[in-house]
Amino acid sequence: MIPGPRPRVLIVGGGNGLVGRALIAALRSDYQIRTAHRRADPWESARGVEWVPTDVARTVDWIPRLEGVHAIVNLAWYRHARAKAFQDLEAGLERLLEAAARARVARFVQISVPSAPEELEARLPYLRYKRRFSRALATGGVPYTVLRPSALFGPGDRLLGVMMRLIRRYPIFPMFGDGSYRLSPLSARDLARIIRASLAPGPDVIRDLGGPRCYRYQELTDLMFRIAGKRARYWRMSPASGQDLASLLQFFGSSLLYRYELDWLLSDRLGLPSAEDLAPRMDRVEPYLRWVGGRPPTPLPKPWVPRSAERPMAER
Ligand SMILES: NC(=O)c1ccc[n+]([C@@H]2O[C@H](COP(=O)([O-])OP(=O)(O)OC[C@H]3O[C@@H](n4cnc5c(N)ncnc54)[C@H](OP(=O)(O)O)[C@@H]3O)[C@@H](O)[C@H]2O)c1
Repeated sequence: MIPGPRPRVLIVGGGNGLVGRALIAALRSDYQIRTAHRRADPWESARGVEWVPTDVARTVDWIPRLEGVHAIVNLAWYRHARAKAFQDLEAGLERLLEAAARARVARFVQISVPSAPEELEARLPYLRYKRRFSRALATGGVPYTVLRPSALFGPGDRLLGVMMRLIRRYPIFPMFGDGSYRLSPLSARDLARIIRASLAPGPDVIRDLGGPRCYRYQELTDLMFRIAGKRARYWRMSPASGQDLASLLQFFGSSLLYRYELDWLLSDRLGLPSAEDLAPRMDRVEPYLRWVGGRPPTPLPKPWVPRSAERPMAER
């Protein structure tokens, strides 16, 4: 418990996001929390969070939103969108950064992503604009931390939880290539602990974050089959066929797996070293997979229809 009046943190993004949910839970005992995002979230308001409706991509008056704010954490990004949507969001974040420097905000914590293959870094608006904002932070006049986690897991995630549910539901699961590429999943709860620690004063930091254990992809899917009580059976396809499948899903508006996500996974860059030094006794993925596997079946992301929150053209 921090003594004295609780400092105020502005979370850009909020309780309706995977990380936002975990972060609010991690901060609420010691911080006053204000969130700035687009959609109301009853879970958030039930926890005393002050929500200020905000679309960062539009012109926003940041001055009142920054009143009394000690630190900012930015979670807002799109999983898939048109280039213009990323450009507008990044420009909005730069306006926020300028206002934060004027308001003498003590720290800006930006949640980013690990390195991707050069071709994706150069071509993909998702990455180009993320990197542009990280460069803006470096000269923005506010002390900063950039955290670059590997794939995250936790209730509502869009990778491991979805894979576990698919494996439980269907007898066979696609395997792209030999499945030897690595992944070190990190729980959203551990990322929230690390963000919380990053709010303390200190030097500017850029840090990649992996979970407690690095897996080969097929090790993870084998584990999921075991947890589901099934023999592992795969629909094996070459990486190129997997990429065609992901492109096809994307073309028909599915948010199940985007082509760039598969390219990134196949590039074997997501087996990041463990961040256990920052968050001792990290969550392991097995209990989470057992929890997902034991829950009543819930609807999977619709294979052919974009999520309503992801319009236009599946923003996120
Ligand atoms: N999930 C992962 O595996 C993973 C891995 C590495 C890094 N990351 C990064 O971690 C961050 C959080 O990820 P997440 O999975 O928690 O994302 P998420 O579940 O998609 O949540 C994103 C949050 O941003 C808000 N948001 C989106 N667009 C906005 C806009 N224009 N203006 C204001 N708020 C906006 C959303 O709220 P509203 O919809 O209400 O606006 C939501 O609260 C992202 O930057 C992501 O790139 C995620």
